[in-house]
Amino acid sequence: MKHRASVAIVGAGPAGLLLGLILHARDIDFVLVEHRSREHVLSRIRAGVLEQASVDVLDRYALATRLHEEGLVHGGIHLQVEGRRTHIDFAGLVGRTVTVYGQQRVVADLMERHDELGTAVYYDGSEVTPSGIDGSSPRVEFRHDGEDHAVEADFVVGTDGYHGVCRTLLPSNLLDVVERTYDAAWLGILADVAPSTDELIYSLHPDGFAMHSMRSLTVSRLYLQVDPAEDIADWSDARIWAALQERLGAPGWSLTEGPITEKSITPMRSSVASTLAHGRLFLAGDAGHIVPPTGAKGLNAAIADVAMLGEALAAAVRGSDGALADYSDRALERQWKIQSFSQWMTDLLHTPGTATPEDERRFRYRSRVGQVAYVTGSRFAQQALAEQYTGLVIA
Ligand code: FAD
Ligand code: DHB
Repeated sequence: MKHRASVAIVGAGPAGLLLGLILHARDIDFVLVEHRSREHVLSRIRAGVLEQASVDVLDRYALATRLHEEGLVHGGIHLQVEGRRTHIDFAGLVGRTVTVYGQQRVVADLMERHDELGTAVYYDGSEVTPSGIDGSSPRVEFRHDGEDHAVEADFVVGTDGYHGVCRTLLPSNLLDVVERTYDAAWLGILADVAPSTDELIYSLHPDGFAMHSMRSLTVSRLYLQVDPAEDIADWSDARIWAALQERLGAPGWSLTEGPITEKSITPMRSSVASTLAHGRLFLAGDAGHIVPPTGAKGLNAAIADVAMLGEALAAAVRGSDGALADYSDRALERQWKIQSFSQWMTDLLHTPGTATPEDERRFRYRSRVGQVAYVTGSRFAQQALAEQYTGLVIA
């Protein structure tokens, strides 16, 4: 089957699904192909915190009805060091908030809107092959339901995540990927128990970082810093709760335990491609950059990218390509600010790994304790944290 569309989008995570809806709102036609099943995409448990800037984008395209009904608006976070907990009041510091609303819910809402509009979204596509990005008529070929498809487009957008195919199409002499790995990973759980806190707790403890987040008023999401080589099979539910009790413990506060419904270990990495554009190909979201999870920036950065890219593509299809020519520079300038914040939050709150010599480990740990004490004691530092956590303006 042959398709003709202004834009071919590869990857139906939050970035690809939102981009399609932004294009639709601007009357630009597109075909979106995803290589996994719809159920698989919906079942991935990932991000949970939306910046105010992201909520504003979803509002702009009337995609946030359920988010406003069910999302939990948080006016700050609790920052804890060795059992001393301080509330950082974002609303009071910078007049902005964040919304706790799972990535799965965002994805479900976006998919539902595509269904209502009857857009061209293909799940379970195989052999997804973009080509011709250097010329004037790029295309994306794939197989679906035993049939060959070819989309001839003006532009191809790779929203296919960190392991996607689109970034690999950039010539290696033009693409420089700057990366950093960390000597820590996150063990994350979902538990069927009401959160023991009103707002998220980020805690630095001599045993390592711990965090208490949530998905709803009845489901808690918690994380523990572990060594990247750890095997989840060695972490019984009892061991996980004991570590969480120890690292999150604070005087006069208790953590309520409940049945764990999901647990997994995720490594941490920072990575940024040197360009998000080449010829007729544009990258957005995790396809172009990833951050370590501390500070909750990945999904939000993906939303910011497609907010910029969607409008730039719409203008280009109508003959005005200035914004599209600037997209990569604009998105990367914003992205490097996000990278810097995510790295800072990660370094601030994690203990150095066991490969670090003992003397240096102790020194680095004590300086982190000093840095958290500085942040919790300084209105200037708190404002900088609040401004970045709630989301830089998408300009
Ligand atoms: P993805 O969600 O990776 O979507 C890419 C899509 O492309 C996938 O559906 C994939 O199947 C598809 N695809 C890949 N290859 C192909 C191909 N060849 N052909 C067709 N389709 C393809 N971010 C936050 O902002 N806040 C948080 O609190 C947060 N917490 C996180 C916690 C964890 C444990 C993890 C793992 C991540 C977290 N993140 C968080 C990061 C966030 O989940 C990602 O940044 C976000 O999913 C990026 O969206 P995306 O659409 O760019 O990429
Ligand atoms: C969540 C993840 C994060 O990385 C973070 O900083 C805050 C919350 C979450 O999954 O809820």
